[in-house]
Amino acid sequence: MMLSLSALLVASYTFSVSAYPASQFQVPLQPQDHSQGYEFDPLLHLPGISPYFDAVGFGLEHTAPVGCKVTAASYIIRHASIYGNDDEYQTYIRPFLWKLEQHRQGWSGPLDFMEQWHSPILEDRLEDITPAGAEDAAKVGDHLRKRYPELAPTVKRILADKKARTYDTAQALVKAFPHGQDVEVVRILHDTNGSMDALVPHKSCPAFNKEPGKEEMAKFVHHYAQHVSTRLAPFTPFELSDNDIVGLQGLCGYESAIRGQRSPLCKVFTDAEWMSYEYAWDLRYAHMVGPMNPLSPYLGFPWLQAQSTLFQQIDSESGATNTGTGWPEGQRFFLSFTHREVPPFVATALGIFNSSSLAVEEFPTDHINWVRAWRMSDLIPFLGHVGMEKMTCDDRPGRKGDYIRVIANTAPRPIPWCQDGPGASCSMEKFVEIIANGSSKYGDFHKVCGDSPK
Ligand SMILES: *[C@@H]1O[C@H](CO)[C@@H](O)[C@H](O)[C@H]1NC(C)=O
Ligand SMILES: *[C@@H]1O[C@H](CO)[C@@H](O)[C@H](O)[C@H]1NC(C)=O
Ligand SMILES: *[C@@H]1O[C@H](CO)[C@@H](O)[C@H](O)[C@H]1NC(C)=O
Repeated sequence: MMLSLSALLVASYTFSVSAYPASQFQVPLQPQDHSQGYEFDPLLHLPGISPYFDAVGFGLEHTAPVGCKVTAASYIIRHASIYGNDDEYQTYIRPFLWKLEQHRQGWSGPLDFMEQWHSPILEDRLEDITPAGAEDAAKVGDHLRKRYPELAPTVKRILADKKARTYDTAQALVKAFPHGQDVEVVRILHDTNGSMDALVPHKSCPAFNKEPGKEEMAKFVHHYAQHVSTRLAPFTPFELSDNDIVGLQGLCGYESAIRGQRSPLCKVFTDAEWMSYEYAWDLRYAHMVGPMNPLSPYLGFPWLQAQSTLFQQIDSESGATNTGTGWPEGQRFFLSFTHREVPPFVATALGIFNSSSLAVEEFPTDHINWVRAWRMSDLIPFLGHVGMEKMTCDDRPGRKGDYIRVIANTAPRPIPWCQDGPGASCSMEKFVEIIANGSSKYGDFHKVCGDSPK
C-alpha cells in the first residue's frame, strides 16, 4: 500500500459548490482556514516502519526548473517493507505477543478486536520483503521511470548488498522499467574501491553499533507510555509495559505494511501518543545514525564523495560516462539499495534534516522537541531514499552551467549552505568543493571505524 498524501490533501480542500443555492455566490467567500479538514494520520509518523509515502518537502517543484534538465541522477534507497526488524521484534513485539497468548480474553472497548487478532509477522521470515513491499517497490520504480524518462533507459546495472531484502527490492523496483529484465543487479560482497563504505558504511565500520540512543529512547518512552498504559488499563487483561506500548504502536506500521491495509491498532492511540512515539524514535535515530553520533558524517561522506566523482565524469552534453568509473558506458542513472541507517548518515553529512541551529536541534528526553528538523518518518519509511540530480541549465542567461539538487522521498531538499542555483540547487563547482571539504574532514573512515572485519 502506498499512501497517497496528495489524495488526502485534495480531499480536504474540495468542497461541494453545487450544494449552495445560486444567491449564495454573491456572498464573499469565507476565508478558508488551512487546517480545515485536517486529519491526523499515524502512518505518517512512524519513523522507520511505515509503508512508503512521498515527503511533503518545502514546496519546491519536483520537475527541473525552467531552462534546466536533469542529465544524471543517483539514488540510495532503503529496501521495501519486511516482516519485522529483528531487534525491534525481540524487544518490543515478541514479549507482547507472548503475553497476548496467555490472555486471549478480557480485551474490550477500543481494544476488543484483540481477542481475535493475530500477529501478521511471520517469525521465520522476519527480514524478507513482503508482497505489499514488492508492489510498493514497483510503484516507486514506475515513479522514477516517469520522473526521468531519458535517464531510466540508460540503467544497465544497479547495486544491492548481500542481504536478500535489498536484492529482492532492486529486482522488484526495476521490473517497472521497460527494459527491466536486461538490468543487472550486482551484489556488493567485498570492498572494491570503497564500494562497501559507500553502500553499507555501517557494516564496514566495526566502531559503529546500534546501542547509542537506546537509553535516551527508553527514558522518553517511560515518560509517555505509562500514561497510555493507564488510559488503556480498563480495556486490557494485563498491565501494558512501556515496551508493550511501543510494540503495539509499531504493529500499526508493520501490520499495515505487511497486509497492505491499515491495521486496526492505528486507531487505538491518540494523536499526541503518536507524536510521542515518533519523537521517541527520532531521538533514538539522532543518537544512533544522526547528528548526535560523531561517526555519522564519516559514514555519510563515502557515498557523497563517490557520487560527486561520478557526476564529474559524466559529460552533460553527450551523456558519455568516462571509462574508469566502473559503470557501464552511457549509464546516467544510478540506483543503490541499502538499509535504514544509510539515508540518515547521508542526510547528516549534507546537513539536511538539520536546522543547523543548536537551539532547535536539541533532543531532550523528558519532552517532545516539536520544532526539530530531524524527522525520520519523512526520510526512512520503507523504500525511503536520498537522491542527487545533476541539472544542466543551458537556457538561463547568466546562470548557465551544472547544478546539483538533493532529493529526499521525491521532494527537493536544499542543502543549508548552498542554494544559490535555480530551484535552490547548488552549483556543481561549489557542491564538489563542499563534498571534497567534508570528505577530507571526515575522510579517516578506517581510523575512526577500526579495521574492517575480514
Ligand atoms: C577501481 O579503481 C581503479 C582505478 O580507478 C579502476 O581501474 C578499477 O577498474 C576499479 N575497480 C572496480 C571494480 O571498479
Ligand atoms: C547539525 O546540527 C547540529 C546541532 O545544531 C550542529 O552542531 C551541526 O553542525 C549540524 N550539522 C550539520 C552537518 O549541519
Ligand atoms: C573548503 O575549505 C576551504 C579551506 O578550508 C575553504 O576556504 C572553503 O571556503 C571551503 N569551501 C566550501 C564551499 O565550504
